[in-house]
Amino acid sequence: MSLMEKIQETKNFLEAKGLTAPEFGLILGSGLGELADEVENAIVIDYAEIPNWGKSTVVGHAGKLVYGDLAGKKVLALQGRFHFYEGNPMEVVTFPVRVMKALGCHSIIVTNAAGGIGYGPGTLMMINDHINMIGTNPLIGENLDEFGPRFPDMSDAYSKDYRAKAKEIAEKIDVQVEEGVYLGVSGPTYETPAEIRAYQTMGASAVGMSTVPEVIVAVHSGMKVLGISAITNYAAGFQSSLNHEEVVEVTTRIKEDFKGFIKAVLAGL
Ligand code: HPA
Repeated sequence: MSLMEKIQETKNFLEAKGLTAPEFGLILGSGLGELADEVENAIVIDYAEIPNWGKSTVVGHAGKLVYGDLAGKKVLALQGRFHFYEGNPMEVVTFPVRVMKALGCHSIIVTNAAGGIGYGPGTLMMINDHINMIGTNPLIGENLDEFGPRFPDMSDAYSKDYRAKAKEIAEKIDVQVEEGVYLGVSGPTYETPAEIRAYQTMGASAVGMSTVPEVIVAVHSGMKVLGISAITNYAAGFQSSLNHEEVVEVTTRIKEDFKGFIKAVLAGL
């Protein structure tokens, strides 16, 4: 089956389940999936049921799709995403974004846990741009002309308009939100201190193992993107050691601010 046929099949499956008019796709990163529990009139579907869908394997990722109302908007939320480091082909990593677009989402809000370069644990960082250090690109291969052009413009990948609105909203609800460049790596190793020094020189404020592929595919298809990183640790070299438990622990600590911010942003966009 071609990628277009897979997208169509999955779209038909989800529409038959009642996912008819999503506006915002919401990708919830490590430890941040709880927001989906607040979706009202929810239709919840296990990833395992969805045709052509990947499988979630990481602790802190639930593996459920939740559709319904959140802050007055129709959202299609993903509790758990597919990472390249799990061995998923890029087609699988970005498939949910393709399906979001096919179902009618005009925008996605992408979230992740990330290591901070400068910013410390507990910081919420709005992504204003990214650097792709994954070593590949999800659009390599035949272009899906139905979705977008062969050579997509990435000049405004993280919508300037959305960033300005989100910043205003953060001030209004008194949640501190920083801004910076997210550098995406493949993982699964955390970075070496020398890599982090190099990334700092390149202009990165945060580093993580997701988001970049999904955003590239979203931008390709003309979706507007808002990206939020929850900084869970100082990147390598700025603290003595790194582990996944700490990442989950810190996201648990800041999730109330995170949830409040995303809901206020959804209401205001
Ligand atoms: N590096 C890469 N990915 C991450 C980190 C980090 O320090 N923290 C959370 N995700």
